[in-house]
Amino acid sequence: MNQHIFWQQTHVTKKDRQQKNGYKSAVFWLTGLSGSGKSTLANQLEKHLFHLNYSTYLLDGDNVRHGLNADLGFSQSDRIENIRRIGEVSKLFVDAGLVVVTAFVSPYTADRKFVRDLFNADEFFEIYIECPIEECEKRDPKGLYKKARDGTIKEFTGVQSPYEVPPSPDLVINTAKNDIETCTSLLLDFVKEKLKK
Ligand code: ADX
Repeated sequence: MNQHIFWQQTHVTKKDRQQKNGYKSAVFWLTGLSGSGKSTLANQLEKHLFHLNYSTYLLDGDNVRHGLNADLGFSQSDRIENIRRIGEVSKLFVDAGLVVVTAFVSPYTADRKFVRDLFNADEFFEIYIECPIEECEKRDPKGLYKKARDGTIKEFTGVQSPYEVPPSPDLVINTAKNDIETCTSLLLDFVKEKLKK
């Protein structure tokens, strides 16, 4: 960072915004293999929170890669930059008082730790969406595992590129053992508890 750039204090603070809202702002970071159910659950979670009157925003890997991160691919360095930018965007949104839900594969432990370190301890929660790769591959909702196996897609997570299972996530949701309703309700209970002032 340029040494001639100085932090400007704003008059309206994150605390002011949280007080006005009546709940804390935080990021709920869903990580897991492609096809594990991150986007589905993130959507369900946001829908419920929205109806409960929380101001929310969902950041989803596939969508963000259409715009802000359209210049990035799936090499290790591009994935690091993808997660770094999303971490910074999430930080701005948490500062804005929002409840942020993210759905990114985010395969590297170090990158997720980088994002965690941007926040206070009560503002960032890592949620591992657990599902065996065999099941993700069976689901293959976008046909990407098939393409990875036949070599049409390179560097696909779980096939040619690693996924590092979170060593100490704040919550684990297993989508192979539980149906969507159960997973959503487990998530929602966790999130509501964490948003209490
Ligand atoms: S991340 O690894 O950088 O966190 P991100 O969540 O943004 O990935 O994007 C993953 C989505 O992009 C997947 O859900 C999948 O639909 C698509 N995708 C396309 N190519 C790949 C690839 N090589 N590895 C993983 N996902 C890919």
